[in-house]
Amino acid sequence: MQDAPKKILVVFGTRPEVVKVAPVIGRLREDDRFDPILCTTGQHRAILDQMLRVFDITPDIDLHLMEENQTLAGLTAKAVHGVTEVLHRHRPDLCLVQGDTTTAMVAGLASFYCKVAVGHIEAGLRSHDRFNPFPEEINRRMLSVLSSFHFAPTEGAVRNLLAEGIPGERVFLTGNTVIDTLLMTASRNLPFPSKLRLKHERFILVTAHRRENWGQPIRDICTALRRIAERNAVDIVYPVHPNPNIEKPVFEALAGIETVHLVPPLEYLDFVSLMKASTLLLSDSGGVQEEGPSLGKPVLVLRETTERPEAVAAGCARLVGTSPDNIVGEVERLLGDKDAYDRMATIANPFGDGHAADRIVGILADNL
Ligand code: UD1
Ligand code: UDP
Repeated sequence: MQDAPKKILVVFGTRPEVVKVAPVIGRLREDDRFDPILCTTGQHRAILDQMLRVFDITPDIDLHLMEENQTLAGLTAKAVHGVTEVLHRHRPDLCLVQGDTTTAMVAGLASFYCKVAVGHIEAGLRSHDRFNPFPEEINRRMLSVLSSFHFAPTEGAVRNLLAEGIPGERVFLTGNTVIDTLLMTASRNLPFPSKLRLKHERFILVTAHRRENWGQPIRDICTALRRIAERNAVDIVYPVHPNPNIEKPVFEALAGIETVHLVPPLEYLDFVSLMKASTLLLSDSGGVQEEGPSLGKPVLVLRETTERPEAVAAGCARLVGTSPDNIVGEVERLLGDKDAYDRMATIANPFGDGHAADRIVGILADNL
């Protein structure tokens, strides 16, 4: 008689987690050795639901936790209780989490309390600075302590885990699942978002949301964007994250400039279409740092540190921080110097080959 399928509780809460677990959920659903149970904490709402629709994912459990301007402690406390109850109710063989959000860290902790094994997708990223990004650097380090399966996207991530004493037989080099999703999406015929009316041929796509950039840094980023728009024949398209700590200063600084297009968060297909059509990407996002190189787009990273040094080392991304002079200088250099631009735009993606989800599900099948 065949063994009963293994119950895999997949827990996710935010926009990037959905992008990155979607291909794994797809593989688990197709494989009769597994019975996936999908749980969202609802850490995000509108931008999570946008992603769930795109990837046709209907969570079995939705904890509906998001509150306006939520705190780390408040969200964490509610999520520990919520996920623990789900673990008690479903008694999974494994809990699968992705990345370094509060949702991922809490699901890892709750699983440990319930003695449920944890699989961590995108394990081993390190900036080696505990407050940058905050709290993600510590969330992912905690997950490395809590997890039994570490799915590392790059060789650098594998090395980080081994250096911290994680047993080698528990660390698996898989590539990043974001590349699976991106390659599948980018190969489709994606229309340019019809509502956008740009003045110039070239445009820069911007996203920024990180906690370390709240306050003066986000105002500095906006100062840079205003200066770039005023001095260059280039449009700026900026889908603004719904966090009030970002939305308010961004609209205060940039609303009303003809060539700066402040738009609501975009559906993934529209966002990928824009990434493909853009001249360059300006972002503090983790996912965008990984996606840009696959699409041949230089990424200027609006942060002081990165846990994704592969793109910087390869030459397809540059850390520019948040100082207006730096940002404007780097953008204008790339807009004005075709050779410098081409050097950044023609480097192979260091983050994966589009088969990470197959590897992860294969490893689970062999080991559970
Ligand atoms: C979270 C993650 C961060 C990830 C980012 C992706 C943590 C600690 N942070 O940061 O690692 O890079 O998501 O976007 O886990 N909001 C809405 N609607 C939404 C989503 C958010 O209104 O659909 C607003 C709410 O007021 C919410 C606030 O944004 O309280 C902050 O959301 P939260 O998930 O706590 O932080 P992010 O900055 O989104
Ligand atoms: N993204 C999107 N629409 C947007 C902005 C981003 O679909 O308006 C996608 C982007 O392609 C990437 C993911 O969302 O896959 C990144 O999410 P975010 O920047 O919120 O989180 P991070 O990657 O920084 O954790």
